[in-house]
Amino acid sequence: MTIHVAPGLGDPDLRGEPASRDPYAVYDALRERGPVVLSSVHRAWLITAHAAVAGAHTRPELSSDRIGPMIDGGRVSLTQESLRVLSLMRDWMVVTDPPAHTRLRRVAAAAFKRQRIALMTDLIRDRVDELLDAFVRSGETDLIEHVAHPLPASLIADLLGAPREDRDRFRLWSDDLALVAFGAGGEAQEERHVRALSGLENMFGYFRELLERARSAADDTILSVLAVPQPDGTRLTDDEILSMSALLLFAGHETTINSISNGVLALLRHPDQLQQLKADRSLMPGAVEEMLRYDGPVKLVVRWVTRDLELGGEVLRAGDRAYLVNSAANRDPSVFDFPDSFDIRRSPNPHLAFGRGVHACIGAQLARIEMRVAIERILDRLPGLRLAGEPQWLPSLASRAMRELRVTHDAR
Ligand code: HEM
Repeated sequence: MTIHVAPGLGDPDLRGEPASRDPYAVYDALRERGPVVLSSVHRAWLITAHAAVAGAHTRPELSSDRIGPMIDGGRVSLTQESLRVLSLMRDWMVVTDPPAHTRLRRVAAAAFKRQRIALMTDLIRDRVDELLDAFVRSGETDLIEHVAHPLPASLIADLLGAPREDRDRFRLWSDDLALVAFGAGGEAQEERHVRALSGLENMFGYFRELLERARSAADDTILSVLAVPQPDGTRLTDDEILSMSALLLFAGHETTINSISNGVLALLRHPDQLQQLKADRSLMPGAVEEMLRYDGPVKLVVRWVTRDLELGGEVLRAGDRAYLVNSAANRDPSVFDFPDSFDIRRSPNPHLAFGRGVHACIGAQLARIEMRVAIERILDRLPGLRLAGEPQWLPSLASRAMRELRVTHDAR
């Protein structure tokens, strides 16, 4: 039996303002109707229960390839340039399935392994302090624009081996790209694609030059590691290397901005938890996990059904689309006690903020360290931190993002 969303509730538009402002009430209502329900608004199966979402992440019948059908399907007319850029995005491991995915992921994992991410704490701390110095000096109040936003792109620029002075360009490209890849920015579909394409083209041109330099540098930057054959003989083409660099930049940008700002918001809205964390910094790793569970930056990921499968009591047919709603799974009362409470001591905390299975986030360790260090420095450097105004949530299907996070503090 197919459970359609009940007419009384309406068929919620997850991209709209009400669902973007409070997605959790919408997810609860969906989950109560069944772990897997069919939405006619989205023409997609909405998977919201923890067990069903976790299971879906590991089902080979659910494909991550969203670009191939666009290029091969002939449904959209594409310019030569768009086709070229989409072809480059097609190599993004996040939109490939095994075995192509397995090969790309192996090389990316090797490049990440060489980064000694745990040793990056000092670098991250210095960069956050630099941003906080400027924030306090300027009297600015938006923590997103002045602290959370500039941080991740500049760190990925460092990891890739790009010169420091270019880091602002990384930020612009990532913003453009997020418009398409995360469905951010509301309804202006056409303009979105134009901006995203120009972001990608500029980025590829830039990385092409950087790649030439990386080849001769033979250091440990990600670009240099990707540029040489792997010990098992795997060798990426230049296009694959450019594509991988763009993916890393993009995937680690908006997600990290939003995880830091959503995390700070959760703390400011729960003063008792904030006080506990300030009093005992050893609670920070658990607090970060709870921030990811409670209000993570990636609400859902999209899959296409390639072969019929049964999930949560429903039969999903080849050609159907499915949304794996990680953020709904993270509030499932059958897994989390008091799921709507923000509890930095929560244990165990099997949240799905980083996904599961073969596509599970490859940057999770870096993201966690960025969150820990950035939030710790924000608390240390901005005594008396408090909210100055209610946050506005950006309408978005997949991304949980505030427009701004205005704060006041007593730092001088
Ligand atoms: C808190 C921050 C982050 C969150 C919540 C997050 C979340 C996710 C999720 C849910 C996926 C799975 C996508 C899917 O199943 O289709 C994913 C994949 C990925 N993430 Fe992250 N991410 C974060 C930060 C980062 C960072 C910092 C980087 C890199 C610098 C990164 C790079 C990637 C890449 C390359 C993939 C694709 C992996 C694959 O397809 O095998 N992410 N991330």
